[in-house]
Amino acid sequence: MSNHLSKKIEKIKDKLTRSLNEATNIKILENIRINFLGKKGLITTLMSELKNLSIEDKKKFGPLINKLKSKVEEQIKKTKENLIKKQTKAKISKKENFDVTAYKTNQLNGHLHILSQFTQEVEDIFISMGFEIFEGPQVETDFYNFTALNIPQDHPARDMYDTFWLNKKNMLMRTHTSPAQIHAMQNTKPPIAGIVTGTTFRHEAVDASHDIQFMQCEGIYIDKNVTLANLFAVTKKFLEKLFNKKDLDIRIRPGYFPFVEPGVEIDMKCPFCKNGCSICKKTTWIEVFPGGLIHPNVLKFGKIDPEKYSGFAFGFGLTRLVMLKHNINDVRLLHSGKIKFLEQF
Ligand code: PHE
Repeated sequence: MSNHLSKKIEKIKDKLTRSLNEATNIKILENIRINFLGKKGLITTLMSELKNLSIEDKKKFGPLINKLKSKVEEQIKKTKENLIKKQTKAKISKKENFDVTAYKTNQLNGHLHILSQFTQEVEDIFISMGFEIFEGPQVETDFYNFTALNIPQDHPARDMYDTFWLNKKNMLMRTHTSPAQIHAMQNTKPPIAGIVTGTTFRHEAVDASHDIQFMQCEGIYIDKNVTLANLFAVTKKFLEKLFNKKDLDIRIRPGYFPFVEPGVEIDMKCPFCKNGCSICKKTTWIEVFPGGLIHPNVLKFGKIDPEKYSGFAFGFGLTRLVMLKHNINDVRLLHSGKIKFLEQF
């Protein structure tokens, strides 16, 4: 009997060594623990065999089996600690060796948003005609957005612009890019030829053709003897380049904006059809360009002498033009973040 027990103890020791070698993760190790120390485990069973021994053998094997139990417990604990150490090390090295530049096949390539692409296209055309790019802030003061544009307090033209007023006195989100005209005039000396592209804001009900946020492109040319003819020539050239047409007719109608005198609305012949289509609403003309000659009061606010200089200004809807050019029929798509829509451009 005692011989049989000694052999069993040796076998268990052997098995322990082999099992622990195979414990590659905590889960396997837990199974090993149950195998040895659980209610029906090898050690527990061995202990229950003690009661069948003679007193002498009990004295001999009791301590041996206890020692074996402690050894098993200790080795399992050690293995667990080692496993945890290894795991943390692996985690850290994975983080440290993460290669952000690694090439991943089949990845989707992003590209610029259609509004950004179009803005660049418009800017490139004006740059090719000798214009420079100016900027203006989106948060403006009453002075730049209205007063300096010949729209004093209580002027009815303020009603044309549903304004987002800010909590700070006289501060607002610019309702058009025209305030950037004044910044450009104040910061440079004539001759000035420049454009400003950027976001503008109006407190409007959103629908397929109105958004509370949209883009405009403002342009000014100030020099000696600038006339409306210069405005028409620049507009025509720009539209021909943008729509890739050799000879694109424009027509002029009177328009009213307090910051220009005279003010005009420039329409272009529909570049998409000859006899009327859904885009020109069967009229063959499309309204695109409000503009005019800069009002002397505005030049004065810009610190430019209206006796010496004259200039033209225009301010068209960049958002509206991109929709026209690419036949986008709902302005809300532009800020929808819909990949299917954006992928087309
Ligand atoms: N700022 C005007 C608007 O947004 C457009 C405009 C600009 C008209 C420049 C004339 C000259 O409505």
